[in-house]
Amino acid sequence: MKSSASLCEDRERCLITNMGRFTPLLFGCTSVTFIFSIFILFSPLPLAPTIPKQLHQDDDHTTPLIKPHQSDERCDLFKGHWVPDEKGSPYTNWSCTTIPDSKNCFKHGRKDTDFVNWRWKPQGCHLPRFDPATFFRLFQGKKLAFVGDSVSRNHMESLLCLLSQEEVPRDIYKDSEDRFRTWYFPRHDFTLMILWSKFLVEGEERMSNGTASGVYDLYLDKIDNSWAQKVPEIDFAIISNAHWFFRPMYLHKGGKVMGCVYCNEEGVEEVGVGFALRMAFRAAFEYINGCEKCKGMVTLLRTFSPAHFENGSWNTGGGCSRTSPLGKGEVDLASFERQLGNIQVEEMERAKRGGDIRVVKFGALDVTTAMLMRPDGHPGAHWGNKWMKGYNDCVHWCLPGPIDAWNDILLAVLVREAG
Ligand SMILES: *[C@@H]1O[C@H](CO)[C@@H](O)[C@H](O)[C@H]1NC(C)=O
Ligand SMILES: *[C@@H]1O[C@H](CO)[C@@H](O)[C@H](O)[C@H]1NC(C)=O
Ligand SMILES: *[C@@H]1O[C@H](CO)[C@@H](O)[C@H](O)[C@H]1NC(C)=O
Repeated sequence: MKSSASLCEDRERCLITNMGRFTPLLFGCTSVTFIFSIFILFSPLPLAPTIPKQLHQDDDHTTPLIKPHQSDERCDLFKGHWVPDEKGSPYTNWSCTTIPDSKNCFKHGRKDTDFVNWRWKPQGCHLPRFDPATFFRLFQGKKLAFVGDSVSRNHMESLLCLLSQEEVPRDIYKDSEDRFRTWYFPRHDFTLMILWSKFLVEGEERMSNGTASGVYDLYLDKIDNSWAQKVPEIDFAIISNAHWFFRPMYLHKGGKVMGCVYCNEEGVEEVGVGFALRMAFRAAFEYINGCEKCKGMVTLLRTFSPAHFENGSWNTGGGCSRTSPLGKGEVDLASFERQLGNIQVEEMERAKRGGDIRVVKFGALDVTTAMLMRPDGHPGAHWGNKWMKGYNDCVHWCLPGPIDAWNDILLAVLVREAG
């Protein structure tokens, strides 16, 4: 019998795989293809391999630390490169007992260990490594919820590992499918939750002859209540999502179909993944801005997390077996993935302008560029076929691994805000 955790992940994997049916144009791609290969279609500039020189210079000592009231405009947490850091990860698969099997790369035979020996070096500033004591000080008595899909969960699991080095949490709530989970740290009165949502707005999969079709209806004027109803009790929300938008779907608004993604249907306009993503984030942020009970909540957008399939996609034998990061010059900042991240940031900025900043605060954790450089950070082919049944997971991230940097960034953003 399967554990509920693997059921949850299996189901998502199946749906991601379904998408592969719509990517027959990709077989010509033999070079490095990022995220589901589909992107290649939108990305006119394939990456040219170059030597990542900047990986080996650490300008730590020439740039200022992140300080409260950091006003140095040159400091950009979201641009930079990865530098070697022999200190490695602050936790291991022994010291963190909550690493799910599917992300426990060392347990599943990953032999190269270099991928944990890198640190994100933002432009113009030094990013301190995650400090659980500082985190708990800021979050004493607070509730933080991750809202999103399995990559959002991956982020939450990283935070759980980092925090559990300071205090072992209590696992206080889990629904039958392990989609919603709550952890509590009694010594610090801190609550950490994951609220599952594929699209942020309501989305339903069409059934065809009693089986799931892989085609979705998205209702842009209906917020997914599974997270929305919890918002009044949350102090901090980290909102993400994108991977589910790569499926055929129909977008509904005001009782009408306003367009589709990969539907190939006469009379229905193809609006593209980016548009669908934009409208869903717009709806989610507008909901937060307009929600009486959301007053005082801090909303952080975690931007698109790229996948790194090479030589194919999920179901065409694609994999990710690199063992070191790419350099700054090796990632394509005009890529479709970066554009998706930009769309999300634009919608966050729009919400910021449209809302009352005295009551709702918005911010970004823009991890897209940093993660474009980490093809080496996925479970990929490094371990057995237990979860993926022959597929390589180049979407989620190993724990420990580069995803831990998202929490270094999270803490830096919050320290800056709190200062
Ligand atoms: C941790 O990883 C090692 C390999 O580095 C593996 O032998 C061990 O079973 C793993 N332990 C746990 C608790 O996952
Ligand atoms: C619907 O499912 C039944 C039973 O699985 C099958 O016999 C039938 O051919 C299917 N019909 C269509 C239109 O796919
Ligand atoms: C993709 O194919 C190239 C050329 O055959 C090979 O060198 C590379 O290792 C492959 N990558 C993966 C992840 O299988």
